[in-house]
Amino acid sequence: MSTSRSRLRIAIIGAGMIGRAHAHAFRSLREFFQPAPADVDLALVVDADAALARDAQERFGFERTAASWQDAVEARDIDVAVVALPNHQHREVVEALIARGKHVLCEKPLAVNLSDAQAMLRAARRAGVVHGVGYNLRRAPAVAAIQRAVARGDFGEPWQFSGRYFTDYAASPEVPFTWRYRRILAGGGALADVGSHLIDLGRFLLGEIETVQGAMLATFIGRRPVPAEHAVGHARVATTGEFREVDTDDVASFTARFRNGTVADFHISRIATGYRNSPAFELIGSRASAAFDMERAGEFEFFDATREGEVNGPCRVVVGPGHPHFGNVSVLPVAGAGYGYTETYMIQAYEFVRAVLGQTPGYVPSFEDGCAVAHVVDAVQRSATDGRLVSIERISE
Ligand SMILES: NC(=O)c1ccc[n+]([C@@H]2O[C@H](COP(=O)([O-])OP(=O)(O)OC[C@H]3O[C@@H](n4cnc5c(N)ncnc54)[C@H](O)[C@@H]3O)[C@@H](O)[C@H]2O)c1
Repeated sequence: MSTSRSRLRIAIIGAGMIGRAHAHAFRSLREFFQPAPADVDLALVVDADAALARDAQERFGFERTAASWQDAVEARDIDVAVVALPNHQHREVVEALIARGKHVLCEKPLAVNLSDAQAMLRAARRAGVVHGVGYNLRRAPAVAAIQRAVARGDFGEPWQFSGRYFTDYAASPEVPFTWRYRRILAGGGALADVGSHLIDLGRFLLGEIETVQGAMLATFIGRRPVPAEHAVGHARVATTGEFREVDTDDVASFTARFRNGTVADFHISRIATGYRNSPAFELIGSRASAAFDMERAGEFEFFDATREGEVNGPCRVVVGPGHPHFGNVSVLPVAGAGYGYTETYMIQAYEFVRAVLGQTPGYVPSFEDGCAVAHVVDAVQRSATDGRLVSIERISE
């Protein structure tokens, strides 16, 4: 159930670290995308922290603020809602929104466990709304170019995927205790948080994961200081002197096999000292290989084995207007001008709006993708507990 209207009114629920990235992204559509897919009004920003909501209103020009997400559910003028709340609140809020016919872009991971994710998918299908999950790394121009190359067959038979998501946002024991460090609120630690991005990237490139084995989850910083004030994202704030126990993983690793036979290893850490925000992968096929690291988003490595010769070798491809999405989101549409995480949010917002307007057949990654990732996260958690190979049954949500 898309809409043919040329004006969409958006609510962003959660004005924390990532709610702001969404606000910037939706606000930028008119400036960057010509023609803009629709007039997008930033109608409402919701946050329980009133000062944060007001700050977002002033920065991004929202028409109004609210402290309760129910306001977005009840508001008749809202067409699209972005849910950028802590993971444990996604299900309740998303289900209430879609019951009122709102189109929903929900942050990742879709839910804190597989059964919640499945329930959300069922509810979205019943309501017939457009639904999406914030796996924005698919929108990186270099990643999209590599995916197109895989789909064209440029890699030949994909043989091996080696992925890592290393970041050090939690490497200091002084980073305060927030919802991310509590299993019932987050659904998991590094695995569910940044690992879910990496799993989605693997699926984007290679399709479904069939089995998982050899999983390990570990927590190295077992307690964290209690913040004395609201900590946005990974911010360090004053603390009370008390500590709380962490029950989510800092580090995760596992091996997997994709349904197409590709053998894979995944390494994930939120305490990877010195790696600031480094989702990265190597993909090896029978005819080509590629390597990408989001910390150097403006380039990737590619080797074409069909062109062997004395002057052939792995080449550094500099991303530019010839790559997917780049021309739209770079103010300087020149190869080498670069792009980053922020731009992936702009592309995500653009694609979501187009799907809501019926200009594309539905939105991908959808709640189906959110569920598929939840299956893998669940399998990794089970493999880590009992040490066994876990098959991922397909998925008849
Ligand atoms: N795609 C990405 O790269 C990416 C990056 C960061 C976070 N995320 C996801 O975005 C979501 C939010 O993460 P974050 O880092 O922005 O968290 P955050 O803690 O910085 O922000 C969450 C905000 O929600 C508000 N909030 C909490 N409960 C509320 C309620 N009941 N009503 C109204 N407001 C409420 C808090 O006051 C806070 O400002 C999570 O699901 C996270 O996994 C995705």
